[in-house]
Amino acid sequence: MSKEERKMYTAAVVTVSDRSFRGERPDGAGPAAAEMLEAAGYQVVERIIVPDEEEDIRAALVRLADERDAALIVTSGGTGFSPRDVTPEATAAVCHRMAPGIPEAMRAASMAVTPRAMLSRAQAGIRHGTLIVNLPGSEKAARENLRAVLEPVRHGVDMLRSGGSADCAA
Ligand code: MTE
Repeated sequence: MSKEERKMYTAAVVTVSDRSFRGERPDGAGPAAAEMLEAAGYQVVERIIVPDEEEDIRAALVRLADERDAALIVTSGGTGFSPRDVTPEATAAVCHRMAPGIPEAMRAASMAVTPRAMLSRAQAGIRHGTLIVNLPGSEKAARENLRAVLEPVRHGVDMLRSGGSADCAA
């Protein structure tokens, strides 16, 4: 096992949902994503719920990236077509570099499950040393999407955090 495979990275999970924020709907996707990240070797340092407000989502992402210095932030919810679905816009607004291959891969894998996968407008991108990845809001969809990218995302985080020394051939 190489050095970078043993490294434990920090992660944060942001559930974006008006109803879960108001306590009207239990948050299934957030705990599910956290559980999957922990099983994959991340230390989940924070799990929060924010309403579908672009400003609140942006503020949470900036704080978790810049103050918490989470290596990975996973959001769930707010990626669809309803007027209040603004998670992708908030994510793009705080990222310096986008990583379109991650949501492309999630949608490609999810199309084998449901053609409605194409309705997810999820984004992924990098802010300083933090990778941010959007997932859909239902627990089932969040699990399916995260499962599809978890292994290569780990390599991406290694590249981001190793100052360029991560070995793509390893
Ligand atoms: N992806 C998978 N794997 N499984 C699903 O059930 N649901 C889709 C899509 N992606 C789904 C999926 C649906 S119905 C929608 S509207 C979008 O995710 C956006 O979901 P969100 O608005 O909860 O973020």
